[in-house]
Amino acid sequence: MYKIAVMPGDGTGPEVVNEAVKVLHAVAAKQGFKVETQNFDFGAERYLKTGELLPDEGLKDLEGFDSIILGAIGHPSVKPGILEVGILLKARFYFDQYINLRPVKLYPNVWTPLKDKGPKDIDFVIIRENTGGLYTGMGGASMVGTQYEIATQQMTYSRPIVERCMRYAFEYTKKRNKDNTLTLSQKCNVLTHVGDLWVRTHEEVGAEYPDIKRDYNHVDATTMWMVKNPEWYDVIVTSNMFGDIITDLGAMIQGGMGIAAGGNINPEGVSMFEPIGGSAPKYEGQNVINPLASISSIEMLLNTLGEEEGAKLIDKAIYQVLESGQIKSMAAGHMGMSTSEVGDLIADIITKM
Ligand code: IPM
Ligand code: MN
Repeated sequence: MYKIAVMPGDGTGPEVVNEAVKVLHAVAAKQGFKVETQNFDFGAERYLKTGELLPDEGLKDLEGFDSIILGAIGHPSVKPGILEVGILLKARFYFDQYINLRPVKLYPNVWTPLKDKGPKDIDFVIIRENTGGLYTGMGGASMVGTQYEIATQQMTYSRPIVERCMRYAFEYTKKRNKDNTLTLSQKCNVLTHVGDLWVRTHEEVGAEYPDIKRDYNHVDATTMWMVKNPEWYDVIVTSNMFGDIITDLGAMIQGGMGIAAGGNINPEGVSMFEPIGGSAPKYEGQNVINPLASISSIEMLLNTLGEEEGAKLIDKAIYQVLESGQIKSMAAGHMGMSTSEVGDLIADIITKM
């Protein structure tokens, strides 16, 4: 019996999360485990009504769950940054979700902007460190508004924070057992302190994994190769901000935000799974948003819970639906079917498997 907290959030978040929960229940029925969900209304609406983002009692409540499903956070009615920092980042930090796992996988029949590349070429995973670096918010500003205004924001990393991420990445690469290559994406030619810490940690932890090949790319070059030779990659490990940037590129080459999923993982604690796209408020309430990203995030949720067979069912069902060509496009409003029809289709395939 798993207790799952559901935070639908803003915009189209509730619509995609509905389908994800539907699919989770289908997997549970098939695999013979029980799931109990409880909804939490953190997001723009609650904030505008009460001034509350993610209060301490909310965090305490969430602590009692095995995992969290998140829809999307962010709404034009609230100044950018408030909801993102106050809810999404707050949860990532509070639950110490130090891994942001973002698979970049092109399914069959899904359009990619990369010419001459197909599902065989685009199948890698980006492991983004999720609690350190520029996201710690360390720094400050002075003389704001004057011509001498100064602002700093520091890229902060400690050895333990880098090391635990690196260990996870090596273990993940080993378990994935595809090309057994872990590429570090950094910028050690400029970041002579932080980049160097990452390079040494990659080498030192890597020495414990003689069967895993180590590779290194500067992060700017990574964006070139992700476009030109995505087939070179198996697993990429990188720091927080670099990972934020390159995973948006990853999302695009796998068919767009409609299909890109992310897991905020604390392997020993409460993890949180989300579609990596935004809340797409312009499509809110129309039943046209693509729920596959959210559904795909459930695959990671199940893997984290140790329900690996159940996770595979989701991957198979998504593969089958896309291979059949029934979904015309990954873009909202162009799928040729509604949000709930996509969810029904996936749930149905799983039930009949
Ligand atoms: C992401 C998002 C977030 C991030 C924002 C909304 C704070 O871009 O999950 O990639 O920067 O991590
Ligand atoms: Mn991002």
